[in-house]
Amino acid sequence: MFLLGGQKSSIIIAPWLMAVRTLKVTVVGAGGGIGQPLSLLIRRCPGIDELALHDLSDMKGIAADLSHVSQSGKVIAFTGDEELEPALTRADVVVVAAGMPRLPGMQRDHLMAANGCVAVKVATAVSKASPKALLAFITNPINMIVPTAAEVLKVHGTYDPRRLFGITTLDVVRSKKFIGDSMNISPDEVNIPVIGGHAGITILPLISQCQPGFKGGPKEVQELTHRIQEAGTEVVNAKAGRGSATLSMAYAGAHFVGSLLRGIGGQEGVIECAFVASELTDPPFFASPLELGKDGIKRYIPLPQMSDSEKEALEKLLPILRKNAEEGIQFAKNYL
Ligand code: LMR
Repeated sequence: MFLLGGQKSSIIIAPWLMAVRTLKVTVVGAGGGIGQPLSLLIRRCPGIDELALHDLSDMKGIAADLSHVSQSGKVIAFTGDEELEPALTRADVVVVAAGMPRLPGMQRDHLMAANGCVAVKVATAVSKASPKALLAFITNPINMIVPTAAEVLKVHGTYDPRRLFGITTLDVVRSKKFIGDSMNISPDEVNIPVIGGHAGITILPLISQCQPGFKGGPKEVQELTHRIQEAGTEVVNAKAGRGSATLSMAYAGAHFVGSLLRGIGGQEGVIECAFVASELTDPPFFASPLELGKDGIKRYIPLPQMSDSEKEALEKLLPILRKNAEEGIQFAKNYL
């Protein structure tokens, strides 16, 4: 059985990491609405010797604040483009939350013009400063940002598909919460693979594979699927022009970083869904359950069984992901 995001205490306790070498994590975009809570939650991951916080505005205050949390390791501030490479130097994990959020009425794709350059800039700097780092993007549109970053890394000769991730953990987190609530059980008890991408109908929760088995009929499955696919928009609309999900995204991002660190530390059986280079389906990038290890992706888990309606939904999303990948790659080519 998959344990997708199922390790309840991932952000809090991991005694296995105590014996492992110390690690450096860099948060790019650490001063923003996601970056600040993300950095706070990452501070609770054991084994981090250095947490580097980078943003375009002055990070000294936030770093000083976070450095008072009673956890071991240091917190260091890096500010501005000129300090991006120093922030990344020797990083084991780089997580990128920088970029503009959606406003009501926007699709995630609309952010590419504003955020594509974040992927180019960070991937270029990672190529120079920490080419062996595991690089994980939160920045939207994930379906295009990851192909853009891959292309930039390729141009710099540092591309390793096992080390590049689009974080789709929030889709799993939401699925666990909504399904848990609907089944009247704790979200922690729910395990479900979410495959595809991270926008609208490209988000495909495989409710037929939910553990424990989902009891509702086709109408409930359809309603839950739609709610999970549109959950980001639900938050964008509720925030009414003041951005998109920040706290739940930080929770999900910190969980994923915790899993990357557990993989680096040699823990066996760390499984997470993420949007990565993939040969499981036709588009070159696809989200699916992965086993994580010391070099990032250790194993692609074969696609689970699907119901007929899930197979149909998969067929519909594949052309979208293919087009998104082409657009992301083209963005990098135009930019470089
Ligand atoms: C989310 O799923 O909440 C994020 O991708 C932000 C957004 O724009 O919806």
